[in-house]
Amino acid sequence: MREADRRREITTYYLGISPDEISSHVAASFDLWESLARYRRELAVGARWLELGGGMGDLAAAALDHGYDVLMTDVQDELLETAARRHPRLRARLQRADVFDARAVAAVGARGPFSIVAALGAVLNHARDGKQLARGFRHLVALGEPRSLLVVDLLVREMFAGHPATVWADFLHVLPGLDQLARLIRSSGLQLLEAYSLFHRYPPTPAYDRAFDERMLRVVLHKSPPGPRRRARAGKSSRA
Ligand SMILES: C[S@@+](CC[C@H](N)C(=O)[O-])C[C@H]1O[C@@H](n2cnc3c(N)ncnc32)[C@H](O)[C@@H]1O
Repeated sequence: MREADRRREITTYYLGISPDEISSHVAASFDLWESLARYRRELAVGARWLELGGGMGDLAAAALDHGYDVLMTDVQDELLETAARRHPRLRARLQRADVFDARAVAAVGARGPFSIVAALGAVLNHARDGKQLARGFRHLVALGEPRSLLVVDLLVREMFAGHPATVWADFLHVLPGLDQLARLIRSSGLQLLEAYSLFHRYPPTPAYDRAFDERMLRVVLHKSPPGPRRRARAGKSSRA
């Protein structure tokens, strides 16, 4: 197509829609539960909620309030005990599991299938290094049933000055780059449905004498059925 024709098409389109549609300064609202409800309706996603690294259980309890059938895991017994104390309704829904450990993840998988797999609050940034972080990410993907949703929060390098590979504040946070995140998303055949960033300033603590500005990317991913090219590739490798 000639450049002049392409330009004319674009201009005709923009002049044909209302100013409301063209405007980008709409107020953004990112409500996790509203987004998930919409995707569940549109993509026929079920109600089985798995949270890895659930901590004190507040998010898992909120998922129960929103009608999800919840299983919450954490690597720390003390946090699971705290979650059970804060939210007695979670008691039969808690399991100890290290998201980076294949055996522990398989034991969680045995309680599946799961329609939504969540690792919110930078759980994967607790990895020892980038390789372990990638393994944890693949575990999340494996735990979701076909057509499931994954919701993952990650501190990424590009959100910190100088693009560091790690940041230390109270403990070590391993940071993937946007390139690594993109590779993980693509190689797992996921579709990125939504991404937004979260900001929280933590005050100084006895172990870290400065405020910590935590910036995280939240991504909502869909384990969509493979398109024709990926199906063909998968067919070839299973015949090989
Ligand atoms: C910031 S909290 C997030 C709590 C909760 N997901 C939320 O968003 O409200 C991070 C949690 O990750 C857990 N965690 C750290 N390393 C982990 C691992 N290897 N496997 C599973 N959970 C882990 C911590 O124990 C902690 O409870």
